Amino acid sequence: MAVSICAPKVLCWTTSFLLMLMASLSKAVLDAHYYDHTCPQAEKIILGTVYEASMHDPKVPPRILRMFFHDCFIRGCDASVLVDSTPENQAEKDGPPNISLASFYVIDDAKTRLELACPRTVSCADIIAIAARDVVTMTGGPYWNVLKGRKDGRVSKAAETINLPAPSFNVTQLIQSFAKRGLGVRDLVALSGGHSLGFSHCSSFEPRLRNFSSVHDIDPSMNDELAQNLRKKCPKLNKNRNAGEFLDSTSSTFDNNYYRRLVAGKRVFGSDQALFGDYRSRWIVEAFAKDQSLFFREFAASMIKLGKVGVIEKGEVRVKCRVVN
Ligand code: HEM
Ligand SMILES: *[C@@H]1O[C@H](CO)[C@@H](O)[C@H](O)[C@H]1NC(C)=O
Ligand SMILES: *[C@@H]1O[C@H](CO)[C@@H](O)[C@H](O)[C@H]1NC(C)=O
Ligand SMILES: *[C@@H]1O[C@H](CO)[C@@H](O)[C@H](O)[C@H]1NC(C)=O
Repeated sequence: MAVSICAPKVLCWTTSFLLMLMASLSKAVLDAHYYDHTCPQAEKIILGTVYEASMHDPKVPPRILRMFFHDCFIRGCDASVLVDSTPENQAEKDGPPNISLASFYVIDDAKTRLELACPRTVSCADIIAIAARDVVTMTGGPYWNVLKGRKDGRVSKAAETINLPAPSFNVTQLIQSFAKRGLGVRDLVALSGGHSLGFSHCSSFEPRLRNFSSVHDIDPSMNDELAQNLRKKCPKLNKNRNAGEFLDSTSSTFDNNYYRRLVAGKRVFGSDQALFGDYRSRWIVEAFAKDQSLFFREFAASMIKLGKVGVIEKGEVRVKCRVVN
């Protein structure tokens, strides 16, 4: 695929990745009623599992939401994020920005129950997509019908996680990263609202707090009070690898507070704060800050779009989500 004409390797990979993505996008047929006859109780089983786990551990909802994003951005929504490393292969979950990937046991539990109810029927990729919807609804966000029928991939490579957007990205870089997956600026702004939930480690925002640039010690787009708080939470010689800050002042509730804090300069990540500094995204941020139901509608629509990225038809239904069949 276009191999001989692309000299720099990275360009080459990007090109073939895009071609593969386009090919799979045009073929994919997802359906809200996919399991109606083969496993009618599938969504109930998944919701029950996710709900129980979330009651025991409030970290579960944000982790599942991030898992879905990570899965779909690397190789499409094919459950490649769930595969365990083997002696021959370092998998995605052991790739560099894996610090917040966790709670895989919840997907495993749902899969075990599904294999008892309807063996070899519900893909791991569909479990993540349904669970991601459930955690959003459960924490106060919108509900939507999840399209299903994804198959599980057989490849998971740690090196590919380099294709995830970084918290240091500017809006141009973010737009490009989303455009590669067929997602637009509105999707970017809506989906970034996923940071209404959860937690970040210091390493993801530390560069904004000290020696930011040759002219500014602190990132000037950050609210002063927030900067001072974050400096205290993430001291210079930080020995606590678990230190960090919640992504929102209401980080267990899915709401549009994310955008209201964004307008006030109170975002932890540079990539989130940048959405207010650029004319292409700023007006959307302002609209979501004013109107939560607009945000909810657009978030749901963008999650459905995200769930279609790179979906494969010719894959398998894994029996165990951590290992390919
Ligand atoms: C726009 C580009 C994005 C960037 C640069 C980004 C970056 C990050 C980073 C750096 C973290 C914290 C990792 C850590 O230090 O623990 C994080 C956490 C999180 N992200 Fe994103 N993310 C992006 C988009 C998304 C999207 C689209 C979603 C879902 C719709 C999402 C959901 C989450 C959630 C829920 C957490 C919290 C995880 C937890 O509490 O364990 N992110 N993200
Ligand atoms: C993250 O990757 C490192 C190795 O790169 C690994 O030791 C660690 O277990 C991984 N974390 C998770 C949650 O998988
Ligand atoms: C965004 O970042 C890229 C890469 O660092 C840089 O080339 C570009 O000039 C930046 N764009 C804006 C608008 O700041
Ligand atoms: C700040 O960054 C500059 C280069 O960007 C470096 O030369 C300097 O040593 C840094 N200062 C501190 C206090 O880390």
